[in-house]
Amino acid sequence: MELFNTIYKGKKVLITGHTGFKGSWLSLWLTRLGAHVVGYSIDVPTKPSHFKLLNLNITSITGDILDKRKLLQTVETHKPDIIFHMAAQPLVRLSYEEPTRTFETNITGTVNVLESCRKTRTTKAVLIITSDKCYQNKETVRGYQEDDAMGGDDPYSASKGCAELVTHAYRHSFFHPDQFNKTHSTLVATARAGNVIGGGDWAADRLIPDIMKAAAKKEKMSIRNPHAVRPWQHVLEPLSGYLQLGQKLLEKQREFADAWNFGPSEKAFLTAKEVTKSIKKHWHEIDFTTEVNRGSLHEATLLTLDSSKARRKLKWKSIWDTDTTFEQTTNWYKNFYTDGTILSEDNLDQYISDALRTNAPWVK
Ligand SMILES: NC(=O)c1ccc[n+]([C@@H]2O[C@H](COP(=O)([O-])OP(=O)(O)OC[C@H]3O[C@@H](n4cnc5c(N)ncnc54)[C@H](O)[C@@H]3O)[C@@H](O)[C@H]2O)c1
Repeated sequence: MELFNTIYKGKKVLITGHTGFKGSWLSLWLTRLGAHVVGYSIDVPTKPSHFKLLNLNITSITGDILDKRKLLQTVETHKPDIIFHMAAQPLVRLSYEEPTRTFETNITGTVNVLESCRKTRTTKAVLIITSDKCYQNKETVRGYQEDDAMGGDDPYSASKGCAELVTHAYRHSFFHPDQFNKTHSTLVATARAGNVIGGGDWAADRLIPDIMKAAAKKEKMSIRNPHAVRPWQHVLEPLSGYLQLGQKLLEKQREFADAWNFGPSEKAFLTAKEVTKSIKKHWHEIDFTTEVNRGSLHEATLLTLDSSKARRKLKWKSIWDTDTTFEQTTNWYKNFYTDGTILSEDNLDQYISDALRTNAPWVK
């Protein structure tokens, strides 16, 4: 089987934030693809940790994204072909408590990654991971498109909008696609995805991990903002998009050095209450009440991504419907809490074989 045109085989890949939820899944997938993965993260953010449970054979560096000397040294030493920048303070609620750290990590951290590339000039492709929250949220029904205005009413969202603007400025000023192979040899893109779920997420204040932790303890879970609509996709869906995009950049297709949305189809927009009901089908211990907290911190009620550009130009598409996504995710946690083993490899196998069956362009 050929995945992503075998582009990642033997490639040096730097993942910042590799110990986190998305970073650990990406490390697993890239290791499978034969890449030499180097990870750079400040800590292992949760306990338990998906990253630790995977126990992958990669180079793992402990470092702060704000430590620009160490980051530069890492890029100089390992000379990654491609960087996936995921290190961030990724939680909206925590960003109200720690706005300075959120802005510094998410904005200056992005500057430091791009500066390392500008100074070393050895990295061929950079993918900056931001969020659907980077858009100025007008609470409209229409999905946000890549050229919509950046914004953000809370520190996290604004920091992701800023990370996009920073990347745009670096691409325009130092890594312009028109100057590729003339003044520089680095293609830079950004990727915006929404809420992702999957086994191994233990971050605070996220619906699925909170439900799973409560179910494991046989406790009743209180659902905050039960009517808030969110997109729900398995973590492997945007990761397949990031890997497709990375492939195009490594293949020197400069028209892909741009911003990209990777959201799910409209059918995957569900309220928190609908999600909880749906996952209860797969784990009967799940028990919940709902709580509408009017005085709570502002949280956007509707944010949808229009991913037609990725579908059209990358032929990217979701492989799993919401039911499969919830089933795979719930079974992962149920299995972990029952016998301590993880199903990540099996999930990845299943995802790839479903992608092959449904003619996804990245698997042949
Ligand atoms: N999980 C989601 O639903 C979601 C949705 C949209 C966007 N994102 C974005 O995807 C990326 C990964 O998110 P995640 O859910 O895996 O987060 P996570 O909290 O699980 O992982 C964050 C990672 O960043 C590292 N990190 C944090 N601060 C750092 C610092 N100062 N220096 C170096 N490393 C640091 C942590 O050690 C960890 O490896 C983030 O950029 C996040 O904003 C996530």
